[in-house]
Formats: sequence, C-alpha cells, structure tokens
Amino acid sequence: QPTRLVDRFGRIVNYLRVSITDRCDFRCVYCMAEDMVFLPRKQILSLEEIHFICQAFVELGVGKIRITGGEPLVRKGALGLLQQIGKIPDLQELVMTSNGSKLAQMAADLKASGIKRINISLDTLDPVKFKVLTRTGDLENVLKGINAAREAGFQRIKINAVILKNRNHAEVCDLVQFAVDRDIDISFIEEMPLGLVDHHNRSETYYSSDLIKQDLQNRFDLQAVPDKTGGPSDYFQVAGSTCRVGFISPHSANFCASCNRVRLTAEGRLLLCLGNEHSVDLKAVVRQYPADMPMLKQTIIDAMQIKPEKHEFNIHEQPVILRHMSVTGG
Ligand code: GTP
Ligand code: 5AD
Ligand code: SF4
Repeated sequence: QPTRLVDRFGRIVNYLRVSITDRCDFRCVYCMAEDMVFLPRKQILSLEEIHFICQAFVELGVGKIRITGGEPLVRKGALGLLQQIGKIPDLQELVMTSNGSKLAQMAADLKASGIKRINISLDTLDPVKFKVLTRTGDLENVLKGINAAREAGFQRIKINAVILKNRNHAEVCDLVQFAVDRDIDISFIEEMPLGLVDHHNRSETYYSSDLIKQDLQNRFDLQAVPDKTGGPSDYFQVAGSTCRVGFISPHSANFCASCNRVRLTAEGRLLLCLGNEHSVDLKAVVRQYPADMPMLKQTIIDAMQIKPEKHEFNIHEQPVILRHMSVTGG
C-alpha cells in the first residue's frame, strides 16, 4: 500500500508508536519522578478511539504499529485492543515494548493476540541495582517474564537497556551474554533528557554507545549488519550466535534524517517528534467528529507538515521537554 504520509523533508512515515496508557508499575529513575501524577481516565483515549486512529494510519500507509506505555499491559482491555488492531487489513507488523512485569502471566495470551515481536526493558542483572533503577520493580519477576516470552514463541525478543555511567555500565558484557545465551537481541540506549526526574543527574550518568562498543569488543566479535526493523538502532551481529546488538545513540549518532515514525500519546496527541512538542490533537478530532474517517485522515496528512527536522536533546542541560518518556513510551 503506497504511503500518503510524507513530511517536508521527504521522509516517509510508515511506523506509528501508540502509547495506550501513561501509567506504569515501575518508576525507572531516568523515566519518571518518584511521585507521578497520571492522567485521569476521561482524558485518555478509549480503546475504540485508539483502534479507529490506528485504522486511519494503516489506511494512510503505515505498516508497523508498536504498542507502548507507560507499561501497556497495565491498561485494562489491552489484549482485546491488540486483537482488534492486529485484524486491521494491510497492517504488516504489530509489536510491543514492555517492562516485562506482567509477562510471566500474560506472555502466552499476548502471543495469541497477534503480537509478533516484543521488546523488554532490562537494565541490570543485579537484583539490588534493579530495585534502585526501577524503584518498584522486581528482577526475578521480569526474568520470569522473559522466560515466558521465550516459551510463548515470539518471532524475536529484544532487550532494551538504558546504560548509565557508574550505575550499570560495567554490566554491558553480562547483558550481551544473557541475550546470546537465550537467542535474543539487545539494544543499548543513550539516555534522553525528557521530563524532570529526581535524585538522578543525567549529565553525570551519560555513557556513549562508543564506550559500550569498546567494552563489548573485549569479549565479543561484533559484525555490522544492515538494519531491518525500521527502528533507530545500529545493529551488530555477535559472531557465532543469533544475537544482534543494537545501539540507539540519540546523542552520539543522530538518526533523525532517517526518521520514519510518529507517536500517538495516551491522551490522543499526535506527536511528530520525540524530542519536540509539535503535535496535533487527534482526540479533539475523533470526539468532535465521531466516526468521520476522511476528516481524521486529512488531519493526519496535514500534520506531517509540522514534523520537525530533528531533536535538540542536550544531556548536559535541564530538559527542555517536560513531558516524561512514559507519556509516549519512548
Ligand atoms: P524496533 O522496532 O525493534 O527497532 O524497536 P525500537 O528499538 O525502535 O523501539 P523501542 O520501543 O524498543 O525503543 C527503544 C528505545 O529507542 C527507546 O528508548 C526509545 O525512546 C528509542 N527511540 C525509538 N524511536 C525513537 C526516535 O524516533 N527518536 C529517539 N530519539 N529515540 C527513539
Ligand atoms: N532515555 C532513554 N530511554 C528511555 N527509556 C525510558 N526513559 C528513557 C530515557 N529518558 C526507555 C525504557 C524502555 C524504552 C521504551 O525507553 O527503558 O526500554
Ligand atoms: Fe515504566 Fe518503562 Fe518508564 Fe520504567 S521506563 S518507569 S518501565 S514506562
């Protein structure tokens, strides 16, 4: 299906990230403040509204939808919604990003609902550090979740690890070994300055992808491979294994020129760039003109005109974007 979503820089948008809730059962130090105020129910899109908007995007040529949060699986009715989205004709790929906390119970149902690939956050293999980094998470439970996901038979599983200097940087080799041993992939992420977080200094904990790569090369043979996921990772194959290691480097290797994605926030804002506030209120459109698909599609087409060229993140300054990562799911 030819895409109709093209921005001013000629970039084709064929990937939609959908945050179905801003809530989460974790409070990761780089993502959230300790006490967060979440959106009231009537301010967030209903499951029907999310489905309707996803349908519009697919009709406009989007082939890949990633469900995010907060933690998507804490939203009631998430599985039913996924089944519905998975049935939209012409959608090629339905994928999810999760913190893993509910996977021990839900992995099999999730697979049955049509999710093909899943990305699971895991920043450390040390239970004490895990508690410090997530504040409310439990490592053992997430490891059980990862196992359940493997048993459920997803096409691919990818670990996401945000690497912070002096917090978890010494574990990068162990994390890759963890992935190698389980035939899964792993991406290392440079932290982005989104939202005010407390007791955590992003400037002090910055650790670049190049440093991670150097650490890894002492133990693994990494071979560059072309990217096939349409995401921002630069991928390397770990020689002698099925594991691919990705580097998401918003600071050290800007990837905005090849951006192919936009985001739908839990409250129904179409966000044109993770690192800017340019957005269009799709909730207002679907509530004012219920079931008006042509109106919704035209609004989305027009929104491409305000997609910014790139993010302007500066890890060494106070965040310019006060919205937390959990509102968009990254
Ligand atoms: P794939 O579809 O498998 O490539 O997934 P992904 O790595 O793009 O998605 P995931 O949800 O696992 O996100 C991993 C990290 O990439 C998160 O920290 C996201 O915030 C970050 N990320 C994804 N897309 C963008 C983007 O367009 N810009 C920036 N700056 N970061 C992004
Ligand atoms: N910078 C980079 N990545 C982040 N994530 C959450 N907050 C940030 C941040 N400030 C990651 C999570 C998850 C992914 C969706 O985004 O760890 O793996
Ligand atoms: Fe929750 Fe993910 Fe944010 Fe951690 S990074 S608090 S798991 S939304």
